[in-house]
Amino acid sequence: MPDRHEALDRLLAEAAARFGTPAFVYVTEAIQDRLHALQSAFGRWFDLSYAVKANPNPALLSWLRDRVATLDISSGGELAAATSQGWAPDRLSFTGPAKRDPELAAAVAAGPVEVVLESLREARALDRLARDAGRVQPVLVRLSPAHVPRGFGDHMAGRPSPFGIDVEEAPAALAEIAALPGLSLKGLHIYSGTQSLKPEAIAENWRIFLQVFRTACDGLDLVPQRLIFGAGLGIPYHEGDTALDLEEIAAAIAPDLDAFRAEPRFAATRLTLELGRFLVGEAGWFVTRIVTLKQSRGSTFALCDGGMNAHLAASGHFGMVIKRNYRMHRVGGGEPTAKVDLTGPLCTSLDRLGSGVLLPPLAEGDLIAIHASGAYGPTASPTGFISHPAPREVLAEGGQLREVTPRP
Ligand SMILES: Cc1ncc(COP(=O)(O)O)c(C=O)c1O
Repeated sequence: MPDRHEALDRLLAEAAARFGTPAFVYVTEAIQDRLHALQSAFGRWFDLSYAVKANPNPALLSWLRDRVATLDISSGGELAAATSQGWAPDRLSFTGPAKRDPELAAAVAAGPVEVVLESLREARALDRLARDAGRVQPVLVRLSPAHVPRGFGDHMAGRPSPFGIDVEEAPAALAEIAALPGLSLKGLHIYSGTQSLKPEAIAENWRIFLQVFRTACDGLDLVPQRLIFGAGLGIPYHEGDTALDLEEIAAAIAPDLDAFRAEPRFAATRLTLELGRFLVGEAGWFVTRIVTLKQSRGSTFALCDGGMNAHLAASGHFGMVIKRNYRMHRVGGGEPTAKVDLTGPLCTSLDRLGSGVLLPPLAEGDLIAIHASGAYGPTASPTGFISHPAPREVLAEGGQLREVTPRP
C-alpha cells in the first residue's frame, strides 16, 4: 500500500482506538484541497456557499467560517447551528420547501438572513412577520426550471416538483413578491440537480440557470444583487466512478459566464455556487469495527458495530436507485482475497454496508473504512433505531485528532 494510505490508516486506527467506533473521521486538509480546486476553477466568477445539510457538525461549521463566503441553511435548527458557531446572519441564506412560520420568525429575529422563498405562501407569511417586527427582510426567490439535463443523481426540477416556484408561474409570482413591503428582493436561486459526475451536464444545467435568471430579471427589470447556482457537483462513491474534472466544467461554461457578466444588468451581481458533498464528502471516512464473522451457506458475513443506523447512505437507502457498494478498505491493508458481505448491528436485512466486497482476510476486531463518508452521514441516518450509541465524530487537523461529536 502506498504511504498516503498508510498515514491515513494510522489516523483512522488512532481515531477508533481513542474515541471508539463506529466513527466518522473528517480530515480538514482534504476540504482545504477542495477549496483550492474550486477557487482555481471557478473563483473568477463565483464565491462559495456551503450547504449545511451535507454535514452540520459544529466543529466543521466553525472551521469553515473563515474559508467559505456563506452558508445555506434549511431549517430553524441549522440557523441555530450556524449562529452558534459565529456565523453572522448576513452570511446565511435559508432554503427549504416547507418552512414553518416559527422558522421564518427566527430568521427575521436573527437579522438580515437572506430567506430563499420557495412559494408565494412563504412570501406572504414572511412579509407579515417582517412587518410585525418592523423589519424589511432580504429575500431571494428559488425558481424551478422546466428542464434539467440527464446526468444528475437526483432531479429537483424539470418535472412536477415541490421545490421552488415553477418558471411557468414565475412572472406573476415575482411581481407579487417584489411588491411586498416587508421584503426586499435581492436575487434568485436555483437548485435543480445534484450528484452529477458529468461535466457537460453540469455546464448545460448552469446554461439553463443563466437563461432562467435572464428571463426573470428582464421581466421584472430587476438588477439582482445575488444569484445562487445550485452546483450539482458530484463525488465518486463507487468503484468505476470517475471524479469530476473542474477545469473541464470551467472551460465548457466560461464563454457563457463571461457573456453573462458582460451584460450591464449582471455586471455587479454576486454569483454564488452552492454545494455540500463536493466540499466535504471525500474528506470523511466511516470507521466501523467487525464484531464477529459468520459463514452462512457459502457466504462470509462480517458483522460490524455500525451499519445503516450510523451511515444510511452507505447502505444504499438514501436515494440510491441501483444499490452499489461504497468504496471501502480494511484499515491496515492486506491483499484482497475473498468476497464478504458487511452488515451492521440492526435486526433487519436492510442493514447492509456492502455486498460481495473484495477484501483481505478479516478477523474479529478489524476496522473497515468506508470512503466518501463526509456528507450525509450521521444526521442523514436513523441513529435512534434500536438504540445503539450514536456514531462518534472526529476532526483531524494537521494530523491532530479531536472528538467533535455533537452533544444532544
Ligand atoms: C437547496 C439545496 N442546496 C444544496 C444542496 C446540496 O447538495 P450537494 O450536497 O449535492 O452539493 C441540496 C441537496 O439536496 C439542496 O437541496
